[in-house]
Amino acid sequence: MKKFFLSFLLIGLFSLPLISQSEFIRISTDDIDLVIRVAPQSKRVYQAYLGDKLMNESEFKALSFSLKGGSEGSVSARGWEVYPASGAEDFFEPAFAIQHNDGNMTSIFRYVSHEVNKIDDNVTETVINLKDDVYPVNVKLVYHTFGKENIIKTWTEINHTEKKPVTISRYASSMLYFESPAYYLTEFSGDWAMEARMSTQQLQFGKKILETKLGSRAAMHVSPFFQVGLGQPAQEQQGTVVLGTLAWSGNFQFTFEVDNSSNLRIISGINPYASNYELKPKENFVTPEFIFTISKDGTSKASRNFHTWARNYQLKDGKGDRLTLLNNWEATQFNFDEDKLVDIMGEARMLGVDMFLLDDGWFGNKYPREKATTTLGDWDVTKDKLPHGIPFLVEKAKENGVKFGIWIEPEMISPESELIEKHPDWAIRLPNREPYYYRSQLVLDMSNPKVQDFVFGVVDNIMSENPDVAFLKWDCNSPITNIYSPYLKTKQNQLYIDHNRGVVNVFKRVNEKYPDLPMMLCAGGGGRCDYESLKYFTEFWCSDNTDPIERIYIQWGFSQFFPAKSMDAHVTSWNRRTSIKFRVDVAMMCKMGFDIRTHEMSETDQKFCQQAVADYKRLKPVILDGDQYRLVSPYETNHMSVMYANEEKTKAVLFSYDIHPRMGEKTMSVKLQGLDPDKKYKIEEINLIPERKSNMRGNGETFSGDFLMKIGLNVFTTGQTNSRVIEITAE
Ligand code: GLA
Repeated sequence: MKKFFLSFLLIGLFSLPLISQSEFIRISTDDIDLVIRVAPQSKRVYQAYLGDKLMNESEFKALSFSLKGGSEGSVSARGWEVYPASGAEDFFEPAFAIQHNDGNMTSIFRYVSHEVNKIDDNVTETVINLKDDVYPVNVKLVYHTFGKENIIKTWTEINHTEKKPVTISRYASSMLYFESPAYYLTEFSGDWAMEARMSTQQLQFGKKILETKLGSRAAMHVSPFFQVGLGQPAQEQQGTVVLGTLAWSGNFQFTFEVDNSSNLRIISGINPYASNYELKPKENFVTPEFIFTISKDGTSKASRNFHTWARNYQLKDGKGDRLTLLNNWEATQFNFDEDKLVDIMGEARMLGVDMFLLDDGWFGNKYPREKATTTLGDWDVTKDKLPHGIPFLVEKAKENGVKFGIWIEPEMISPESELIEKHPDWAIRLPNREPYYYRSQLVLDMSNPKVQDFVFGVVDNIMSENPDVAFLKWDCNSPITNIYSPYLKTKQNQLYIDHNRGVVNVFKRVNEKYPDLPMMLCAGGGGRCDYESLKYFTEFWCSDNTDPIERIYIQWGFSQFFPAKSMDAHVTSWNRRTSIKFRVDVAMMCKMGFDIRTHEMSETDQKFCQQAVADYKRLKPVILDGDQYRLVSPYETNHMSVMYANEEKTKAVLFSYDIHPRMGEKTMSVKLQGLDPDKKYKIEEINLIPERKSNMRGNGETFSGDFLMKIGLNVFTTGQTNSRVIEITAE
């Protein structure tokens, strides 16, 4: 009996989560509080507060006086309900909608219990269990808080025990409410080669929706993230901002609704478009993670929250190193053979990069991949072109002292391929209409487990034959067209969701079998960049547009959410009017690579690149793992500047770019950030063209952090496309 009691006590101490019955559930990071209130009688659950951390929990009770907290009684149950469903008292966009077995379309969720689990010193999980008391439908709201990084990650889980399947037509990951005199939304929209363009608008009564219906390569027109400025447009260094993103690479939807009381409601989740989902009894529908932060010091700080969190918790090998590389896509397109590739490997060696990356065009025999219109699906090496296969290329790379990486696009199928001849029912396409092709290809039906096995096999075969392959570039060039899954038959409504879940399943399997294999996420550029995929990928290709001027804006845009080490930037021949130095300097602020024939460069340019690679490798720990400070915006000036500082504040790297300065423009000095005011720092311009000296004032001198942060450095010039890289070292 004693023993039983002791073990009961021990279990109680170590594994039972804290179950509390209090009126308020506090979900917090170091600087943010999300306070959820359970109305004592009705047990309806409300967002009572979201914002700056509150000092006194004892004052929470005052939060229940406001309408937001909802009070008892039928009419006044309206309020900021955390998971409002359609058919209840709220007249605005619901987070959840269902049709029950009896045809009824309402739900009202009430509190059942909640648990708080401390995952470690920094991470806490809060799970709130809700239940409809009329129908057997349950919703679990899950919150993970990352204390130091001030990030909250939240999602929902939905299940039921009705007799037959129910249909859910809304299934948000999160619903948040804000109260402010005005709301300004910054979106990141564009298209191929113009990704993540930032634009801001004031939100007025009614809805603004950011969403995609593309299915795959889903973020081609708009990225799955947003910023909201409370009271004023989001700014870099000041003001309260909310940054949010959905970890889902399929159709997403963010709804921003300003209601009759001028409050803002933000609903984030899978886009329910054409996706009424049939949920079987006891099946658990898990929504994607919605991840957000709030900063009262502008977007610069909020982005750093995301960067640090991603490196610490979400990004594949977030703390690990990254490989510099030479890619052959821009350099050769489909036009290469073994000799040319071996030549390029020699150029990789000359540059001093870590790896050679073989791009599109290496596969297919019945239909060799000589152009973008054929062969996807036939992942056997083209014998005519590469008679000695991939193992030979891996060997040649080794001889050149570089690693070998390879491009695949395994979720796709070409209408001219052996795969479609063998498995016509594996492609997503309509059985009774003329197909419509995007980039002359179709999307494989990833809702079909057999197709998932095939796609996993594409990677597995390459890796089994070539265990030394050191990198994969995983492309996805087409949205889903001709929406019909031969596999799902009468359940076409589930295609968008099940397809995407199938894709993620394969990502997971690949990652489980090859946990140390670095992988680049690519979708015709930045058409896929979300924090679910990035659990399985070390980095993503921001854009096919490598014109350094365009890249300054694109990289500025993506840096709002993603750390530099996840953002691939290559030096190419796009915009040859700019110097090689400008192109290198722009790539160097992210994860640098090359995609250019160096034998076409002058000897001086080659030497410059060699030196730049060596410097980059030396400074990678600061650029890729340091804190990023965006100092001067290309959207607001004719210049751009960004810097990185290590945690100890002993080393920093500053980048500055003159884009299109005006005649006689007064250039302002750039005030640095993230340094120690009391430390002395040596300033040194690096990445100079060989034989040229720096003409920057203060070069080679030593200044205090205080001076550099208050007075700054005169790094800008009035020349078009000039740039500088400054190394800053504490003495
Ligand atoms: C996409 C990618 C490019 C390249 C080509 C190959 O467009 O974004 O980098 O790999 O496919 O076809």
